[in-house]
This record gives sequence, structure tokens and C-alpha cells, in this order.
Amino acid sequence: MKLKDRVAIVTGGSRGIGRGIAIKLADEGADIVVASTTLEPAERVIREVEARGRRGLALQTDVSNFDEVERSVAQTMEAFGQIDILVNNAGGSARGSMSLFCDSQEATWDRVLGTNLKGVFNTCRQVIGHMQARGSGSIINIGSVAGMIGLASQVDYSAAKGGVIAFTQALAKEAVPHGVRVNCVSPGPVGSDAGRQIPPGMKRGLAYTALSNATGFGRFGEPADIANLVAFLASDEAGFITGQNFPVCGVMNLGLAEPLLG
Ligand SMILES: NC(=O)c1ccc[n+]([C@@H]2O[C@H](COP(=O)([O-])OP(=O)(O)OC[C@H]3O[C@@H](n4cnc5c(N)ncnc54)[C@H](O)[C@@H]3O)[C@@H](O)[C@H]2O)c1
Repeated sequence: MKLKDRVAIVTGGSRGIGRGIAIKLADEGADIVVASTTLEPAERVIREVEARGRRGLALQTDVSNFDEVERSVAQTMEAFGQIDILVNNAGGSARGSMSLFCDSQEATWDRVLGTNLKGVFNTCRQVIGHMQARGSGSIINIGSVAGMIGLASQVDYSAAKGGVIAFTQALAKEAVPHGVRVNCVSPGPVGSDAGRQIPPGMKRGLAYTALSNATGFGRFGEPADIANLVAFLASDEAGFITGQNFPVCGVMNLGLAEPLLG
């Protein structure tokens, strides 16, 4: 087990990719705090963690709210006395409010940036001092291929995730002398609950066929594809890796996937 007796906070760990990460880290020996907007599904994941013989705690937390994050980090410290791993997974696109930029609304921009980018600031701001004082820790931010190549009709989300990648690089430079590593994992389309939803107005063919083909594998990724890399980055095996962004999207970030011959 790579993460025996480590304590990990997984934001948005109540379903989808975050649930996959929480379960994988528990399988590797970590105790898990799931900090998510909805308590009941977070508690269900914690029961899965406890069934693996690990300790767990579900905390209702809106990561875009600094005070709520401060309270949840304090509760984690009270319960476990340390934080070794922070996975900033909470986030997502505008979904039901997705639009072309020329039709976009300020409130949607604030919500998308608030969860995906300010949420990462809020949690890191609360946890970094503790990790630096102990001289160890691993922070893994969940970005998106949208933050690397930009996705039309997701300008807000692309900007937020691009910000997360740059945030990762800059914080890693400050934290590396203190023994704390900060990395980013950028998924392509993943068959999570959110990944399977088709936002109103999105072309059905684009949602499935084009996105699946763009990965080169002809399919969406699975939460485990992301969780396996997160567990590695959280572990001492990744002790010389920091400030990096790792796309997990097949060839989607590389341009044309279709061969021009044959
Ligand atoms: N699914 C994909 O195709 C895909 C692709 C690239 C990146 N991502 C990223 O992966 C992460 C997880 O995505 P998913 O597909 O599992 O999404 P999901 O909607 O299935 O799950 C998101 C989780 O985050 C929680 N959450 C949302 N807003 C929150 C907030 N303000 N505070 C606390 N918790 C909050 C939700 O309760 C839920 O538990 C997100 O950051 C998303 O942007 C997903």
C-alpha cells in the first residue's frame, strides 16, 4: 500500500471522478475526508472507505466559500491531526447554463470560476501552511484538457482550468523548498455522472462521438483512469515530481486524431 496512514482530503469526492479517487486512496491505505456540497452522498462514500478498514469523515463544504473551507480544514485537523494529501477535485462546467461566450452571463462566470479556480485557492490557502510546517505534503489539482486547448462554448470553464494549471506551477515553485509537491491532472472526457450528462443545447453527436473519437481510444475515460495517476502523484514514488500538469485524455490535447491516409 502506497499511502498507509496518510490523511487525504478529496473535495467533491461524493460521486464521479472524486468518488473514484477517494476509494483508490483508501485502497492504498489512506484515511479519507470527503468535502462536498451534498452531505448524504459524501457519507455513502465514507461508508465505502470504512468498509476498507480506513477512517473517514464527510464534511458538507462549498469550496467556493472561504469560511466553509476554513471550518472543514479545522474539523479535519481536529479529527485526524494531520493532512498529507489534498485533492482539489470539486468542479465542473456550467452545464445547464453552458452558452456561447457572446450569450454568457456574469453570474455563470462567477459560479464556474468560483468553484473551479477560487475553490482551489481556498483549500490550498488553508492547507499549505500546515504542510509546509511539517515539511511534507502532496497537492493534486484536477484540471481539464479544456484548460490546455480551450473548448468552444466553455470559455468560462476553459479559463478556470487554465488558471488551475498556472496556479499549480506557481505554487509548486513556492512550496518545493518546504517539501510540499503540487501537481495537476487534466482529464479529457470521463464517463462520470457529469460526463454522461448532455447539457441542454449541446449537439448529441458532438457530446459522444466526436469527444470519444478525439481521445483516439474511441471512448470516454473512466474515474479509475484519473484515480490511478492521482494515487501515484500522492505517493512517495512521485517524490521528484512537482509543478507538472498531466493530461489523461488519450491524444485529445495533440490536435487531429484521425489518420489522413488509409
Ligand atoms: N467528467 C469529465 O468529463 C471531466 C473532464 C475534465 C475534467 N473534469 C473535472 O473533474 C472533476 C470532477 O468531475 P466529475 O465529472 O466527477 O463531476 P461530478 O459533477 O460528477 O462531481 C463533482 C463533485 O464535485 C462536487 N462539487 C461541485 N461543486 C462543488 C463546490 N462548490 N464545493 C464542493 N463540492 C462541489 C459535487 O457535489 C460532486 O461531488 C471536476 O473538477 C471536473 O471539472 C471532469
